[in-house]
Amino acid sequence: MPSPLYGRDLLSIGDLSPEELRMLVEYARSLKLRYYAGERVIPVLRGMTIALIFEKPSTRTRVSMEVAALQLGATPLVFNRDELQLGRGEPVKDTARVLSRYVDAIAARVYSHRSLEELAAYSDKPVINMLSDLEHPLQAIADMLTILEKKGRIEGVTIAYVGDARNNVAHSLILAATKLGAHVRVGAPRSLWPLDRVRLAAERAAEESGGSLTLTEDPREAVRGADVVYTDVWVSMGEEALAEERRRLLRPYQVNVELLRHAKRDVIFMHCLPAHRGEEVTEEVLEGPWSVVWDQAENRLHAQKAVLAMLLSP
Ligand code: CP
Ligand code: NVA
Repeated sequence: MPSPLYGRDLLSIGDLSPEELRMLVEYARSLKLRYYAGERVIPVLRGMTIALIFEKPSTRTRVSMEVAALQLGATPLVFNRDELQLGRGEPVKDTARVLSRYVDAIAARVYSHRSLEELAAYSDKPVINMLSDLEHPLQAIADMLTILEKKGRIEGVTIAYVGDARNNVAHSLILAATKLGAHVRVGAPRSLWPLDRVRLAAERAAEESGGSLTLTEDPREAVRGADVVYTDVWVSMGEEALAEERRRLLRPYQVNVELLRHAKRDVIFMHCLPAHRGEEVTEEVLEGPWSVVWDQAENRLHAQKAVLAMLLSP
């Protein structure tokens, strides 16, 4: 079957229809099964080159994107921003036009989502968001795969996101889960509820899918009866100046054993990682029987293989 995503950009979960998102998650699952059956290399992108540009540090995204490209037969080229003339002030639009003459796709981790939009506007080749201030779509696709594996479905599952719900990971998770019919409950201080445009898009998606989005300031109410409890750091990269205020504001939203007691007995705990033990989550929860964070991290590889294959191979 031809890929409906061939030649497209992936900057936001909003770029995908519910069917396209579901197809990516299913394809990721099948690639994972094939990997475990011994098919480590599926060279559908043989001879291709993918540029990976990082303005911020990364462990999971960088390594899993490099390995994903290699396992599909493509060559990844990794650059920190300062290794490119970009770091000396060459405009994003010039970088985009030059790189897209050499490589088959550009993936970037940026401070400002606008840089991605500019890259995409000027690149002839697909541009992929590897995290911006607004979204982290690759994380959310892997998260959907993890929930599907652990709960057997996404539709109808209740996902509680507790903590800073105005960040990249929360935004993409909320958009993806509501598109696939999950019930998302956000437990966060009002000032850290999702941006209005994300909330409105998620509410529209939920209406279509039969899912829902509920916002509350009470972490226990968010978690009550939940199948999945998810959190992320209180201070995202680039927000270091806000650290003290965030710790004060978010202290009641720590995911600890006491909070998990309000969830379903078979609740799973998810975190995109890196985690700050003692802040958004306790050591006991992160290392406890609820935690699926290592499987979740592994799924980044399989989800990104699905994304690269569907964007770059017809
Ligand atoms: N979850 C995630 O994107 O991790 P890295 O910052 O290590 O890439
Ligand atoms: N919200 C975090 C996610 C890191 C993967 C950040 O932006 O730093």
